[in-house]
Amino acid sequence: MKDLKEIYENRRAVNFFDKSKKIEDKTLEDIINLAILAPSAFNLQPWKIIAVKSEDAKKKLCPLAFNQPKILEAPVTLIITADKNGFLPDKKAWSTFEAQAGKESTEGAKQFAHSLYGTSEEKKIKFAESNAGLLGMSIMYAAQYYGVDSHPINGIDFDGIRKEFSLDEDTNVVMLITLGYFDKSKQLYPRLKRYQYSEIVTEV
Ligand SMILES: Cc1cc2nc3c(=O)[nH]c(=O)nc-3n(C[C@H](O)[C@H](O)[C@H](O)COP(=O)(O)O)c2cc1C
Repeated sequence: MKDLKEIYENRRAVNFFDKSKKIEDKTLEDIINLAILAPSAFNLQPWKIIAVKSEDAKKKLCPLAFNQPKILEAPVTLIITADKNGFLPDKKAWSTFEAQAGKESTEGAKQFAHSLYGTSEEKKIKFAESNAGLLGMSIMYAAQYYGVDSHPINGIDFDGIRKEFSLDEDTNVVMLITLGYFDKSKQLYPRLKRYQYSEIVTEV
């Protein structure tokens, strides 16, 4: 059993990936199937992932990420997307909620979800991105658990990626996460300073 504290301490945004090391399909699957234990509002899981693995797809993605070389070097880059309307009453994901809560409570929850997220574009985006952001973090820690390095990327052309990968208008590109193994011939910059409790927490 790996120590969770160690996983936190060892995860870095790894800029250099060993091109010769692929990720086994089973390992990628294990990472995602662990990461999906991430929480989501009403358990709606409004996320989908495109796993960019082929050379062809990497070449399409790379210029849409300001030609960051890690897109070509890493064996896999995940495009994390979220459905802005993933809380609407007709969404299939409500069935898992209903299975536990029953029909009447689910109807109430659907109305509540609409009042929370459905009244402006900003709130829809908040719904999509807050949930998918938690999945993204969960993926990076799950990857670390399986000995796989990662790198989150938001220096990207969000709309360009949506068009290139034929995503519909409701689907937001939230972030990319490259996955692979650190190229040990390279030097990773030291971890940057983090603000501590006393600097970021206000107790009231
Ligand atoms: C949402 C998000 C977007 C990021 N986008 C980029 C990026 O486009 N390019 C890049 O080199 N690093 C990117 N980073 C990596 C950060 O610079 C890095 O996580 C930070 O410097 C802390 O380093 P550490 O993760 O190794 O602790 C991004 C990180 C996050 C969380």
